[in-house]
Amino acid sequence: MAATDPQNFDERDFDEVDHDLDEGLDESGEHSAPHLIGTPSVVVDDVHVKYRVFGGRRQSTAEHGRFRAMFNRSRRHVGAVTEVHAVRGVSFTAHHGESIGIVGLNGAGKSTLLRAVAGLMPVSSGDVYVAGTSALLGVNAALVRSLTGERNIMIGGLALGLTKAQVEEKFDEIVEFAGIKDFVHLPMKAYSSGMAARLRFAISTAAIPDVLMIDEALATGDAAFRARSQERIEQIRDRAGTVFLVSHSMRAIRNTCDRAIWMDQGQVIDDGPTDEVMDRYAHELKQRR
Ligand SMILES: Nc1ncnc2c1ncn2[C@@H]1O[C@H](COP(=O)(O)OP(=O)(O)O)[C@@H](O)[C@H]1O
Ligand SMILES: [Mg+2]
Repeated sequence: MAATDPQNFDERDFDEVDHDLDEGLDESGEHSAPHLIGTPSVVVDDVHVKYRVFGGRRQSTAEHGRFRAMFNRSRRHVGAVTEVHAVRGVSFTAHHGESIGIVGLNGAGKSTLLRAVAGLMPVSSGDVYVAGTSALLGVNAALVRSLTGERNIMIGGLALGLTKAQVEEKFDEIVEFAGIKDFVHLPMKAYSSGMAARLRFAISTAAIPDVLMIDEALATGDAAFRARSQERIEQIRDRAGTVFLVSHSMRAIRNTCDRAIWMDQGQVIDDGPTDEVMDRYAHELKQRR
């Protein structure tokens, strides 16, 4: 994809997008500023992220040797504090219109990396640059379980930068998309985990963000919901947004992403076209088994 010259853009590039160029949001509250396909949207430069766990105990020496070796690489004890070096020198550049899968074993640092890109987790060194708005959908997005779906839609919508009127306008669409019907009037603790995950997805994508990060959120829900989620992801990509998808489903990554980043022990092992990276990753998994 060639970058369009910003000095010289053609209105036809934006014929689907009808909005005020000076505003990030159009009247329906979508982030639809015209990005130039192929220009950088997220730059991650030598990022390190560490967790400090207080009162952590040294791994017992009786621990299985293989696991000890693994822990020792990323865990360091400083007095009563265990430092977990979860992301270790990660660099990559994502572009508008790109859909990037992030794969790797549990504990590889995928979720931590996305939290850092979303600005939810401070980096201990390095830089993260994100053009535009970002939203992270994950298993623990901030919805309040004691409040009704209705209240969560309002709070979540406002948190995304929508106005009250915009949330009200989108309300039916969100409920419809989540497929929760009358449950919207009940506290979210009455929801099944699938319903909660669908509502979270529906809220988080109500305002189409420039950068959408999905952390295993697609794993929940039935086939119909997955299909609708897929459609929403396509919409974001059509608006030249950037999508990051963390999933254990190799099929989901292959179907959704044109690029994949493989992480292991906090580092990037491989980064390239999805099929190539996934073939190498699958091969490595087979070897380890
Ligand atoms: N809240 C936390 N506190 C301390 N350590 C954490 C926390 N979250 C994750 N970690 C550690 O950071 C490393 C990376 O975890 P994570 O980013 O969740 O990996 P992944 O999403 O690839 O499974 C792991 O060693 C994990 O134990
Ligand atoms: Mg994770």
